[in-house]
Amino acid sequence: MKKIPVIIDCDPGHDDALALILAFASEKLEVKAVTVTGGNQTLAKTLRNAKRILSYIGKRPPLGAGVDKPMFRELETAPEVHGDSGLDGPSLPDTDYREEPIPAVDLMRKIILESPEPVTLIPTGPLTNVGILFTAYPEVKRNIARISLMGGSIAEGGNWSPAAEFNILVDPEAADIVYTSGVPITMSGLDVTHKAMILPAEIETLRKLGGKVPVLAAELLDFFSKYDRSLGFKGAPLHDPCAVACLIAPALFTTRDFHVAIETRGKYTSGMTLADLRFWTKEKPNVTANMDVNREGFIKLFMDACDSYP
Ligand code: BDR
Ligand code: CA
Repeated sequence: MKKIPVIIDCDPGHDDALALILAFASEKLEVKAVTVTGGNQTLAKTLRNAKRILSYIGKRPPLGAGVDKPMFRELETAPEVHGDSGLDGPSLPDTDYREEPIPAVDLMRKIILESPEPVTLIPTGPLTNVGILFTAYPEVKRNIARISLMGGSIAEGGNWSPAAEFNILVDPEAADIVYTSGVPITMSGLDVTHKAMILPAEIETLRKLGGKVPVLAAELLDFFSKYDRSLGFKGAPLHDPCAVACLIAPALFTTRDFHVAIETRGKYTSGMTLADLRFWTKEKPNVTANMDVNREGFIKLFMDACDSYP
């Protein structure tokens, strides 16, 4: 079986960490690199978290450090959700695993241009690194098969403002570059990620599997679920793992194509992913949006992935 070559661009972040666990467990994906952006916390913290989580699960892919702020704005972080460290909860040991000497975008460029097969990008944080990559090195686009990203929403509104989801809100200019790039996009927005909930009883099932990775995942979810449960959700939305799962098991997802534009200037709507919902629209779709998920199948996929680690 041919594996899909991927680069994961993330801001760990609890659900980013879970997305990494899912991706590295899959026989369908070949993770060629992990690149890191600021988002859930500052770049220094998300980079430290990426090193610790990857070392802990026994994976040391080429690691790229991105830039420390959005393309044209100051960085907004999410300590309410991910804590002061960006990965509060379990204590992960320090590691001697280090990033590559070249910046994330140069690492991405090298891997994409050298890959015999077109590469799929999986951004699970603000799109800063990908926005800079496409601006500095537009030639990479010809060897990118697809972008499977977590961000935005079609008809679910926002989570960080009434109109905008966090990843797009943090760097709308970068998102605009990505959404107008012409590269095929699969979008896992809040429409699907709010349905991809892991429930408290399932977190207990995960813990009872034993083993270092399932227990770590359960401890990450103990912290991560507090925020969403305080809002009134029944569990924790596995936002970022959706962007990985739809590549591994597309049959779990229901999709619809839309034209989506990014609002970069709105007084109330900055960072909004404006989907053209008119059935008579002449706009060409630029996005395949995951709208629904077989929740039980998705949770099983995730638990099996955790359980596959030694
Ligand atoms: C997104 O924002 C971050 O807090 C999560 O890691 C996820 O990527 C959800 O809006
Ligand atoms: Ca994220």
